Amino acid sequence: MDALKVAFCDFAAQYAVLQSELDAAFRRVCASGWYILGREVAAFEEEFALWCGAAQGVGVASGTDALRLALMALDINPGAEVITAANAGVPTVAAIVLQGARPVFADVESGSLTLSTADAARRITPRTRALLPIHLYGQCADMDPLLDLARQHHIPVIEDACQAHGASLGPRRAGTLGTLACFSFYPTKNLGAVGDGGMVLAQDKGLADRVRQLRDYGQSRKFHQEILGTNSRLDELQAALLRVKLPHLTAWNQRRIEIARRYRELIHNPAVSLPAERPGGTHVYHLYAVRCARRDALAAHLAAQGVQTMMHYPLPAYRQEAYRDLKLNSDCPETERACAEVLSLPLYPELRDDEVAHVAATVNSFKP
Ligand SMILES: Cc1ncc(COP(=O)(O)O)c(C=O)c1O
Repeated sequence: MDALKVAFCDFAAQYAVLQSELDAAFRRVCASGWYILGREVAAFEEEFALWCGAAQGVGVASGTDALRLALMALDINPGAEVITAANAGVPTVAAIVLQGARPVFADVESGSLTLSTADAARRITPRTRALLPIHLYGQCADMDPLLDLARQHHIPVIEDACQAHGASLGPRRAGTLGTLACFSFYPTKNLGAVGDGGMVLAQDKGLADRVRQLRDYGQSRKFHQEILGTNSRLDELQAALLRVKLPHLTAWNQRRIEIARRYRELIHNPAVSLPAERPGGTHVYHLYAVRCARRDALAAHLAAQGVQTMMHYPLPAYRQEAYRDLKLNSDCPETERACAEVLSLPLYPELRDDEVAHVAATVNSFKP
């Protein structure tokens, strides 16, 4: 018998379950003859905002655009500094830089790997215009102290909730905690499109309307552009497909949490530490990132046993070639350590129990 192979993700498995509904939604949109900013987008904006507990939703082309448009809507312009974390790949940082603002990196907490309020506080200057915490791996940043800090300095908080559909802090879901919140529907996300997509959530209708205008060339009425805007619209097809998937998101998140619980029960290798959960919150395990001082050797050991892994993320944003000339601050020791040690194990709702057991047993058989 062939050895068990465990893929890092499996979109086909999800499609197999939802095929008839997804195919019907696809045909409905194609037959409607209306492909941009129509009923599907409006309905999905309302349904996703309601699911998160937010008042307003604005569908956009990607999570990166959601972040850029949120910054634009809040008038975060050249010269502004935005405090964020450097351990989540580059999209958040790219959005800030593309907007002409300057990312200032605060270090992350050693357990959750989300933005440290104490470190963010010491990075505030008269040019700081926003805090941009990232709800990393499916867990909310420690928002209450961050919101207090922002209030003291009269600046907004933009949530990067691109990895955190359904994560919560007490009764409040990601997407309702800051001034604006940004989601991605990239296919691997807990709620993923069949392509790219994103959304900005807001409690304030005025701000949401501004994002609506910005995503559509800056117009609120066709061919009348009142402000400088761009084209970043979620399309009708993606919205219709996401509407099929949204009713399954709660159960999918439950299954992710269940798999994380199984990993916690089954993995007991002293060389590998498991992700920390913030008390009082719900971690929805977009990613299951373990840490290991010999991370590359662990990845190779898993690969040899047919288990695919990924590194989220191997380089702090300030070490990326594209940002070198900007001379961004790099004094973030926890971020450095995390980037050198994290390794994501397969975790998605369709992962079978025997696959989970195989991954755990393979981690346990790793000898550093
Ligand atoms: C934390 C974070 N921010 C932003 C993004 C950007 O989202 P997108 O890929 O939809 O542009 C992603 C996803 O890739 C992400 O994980």
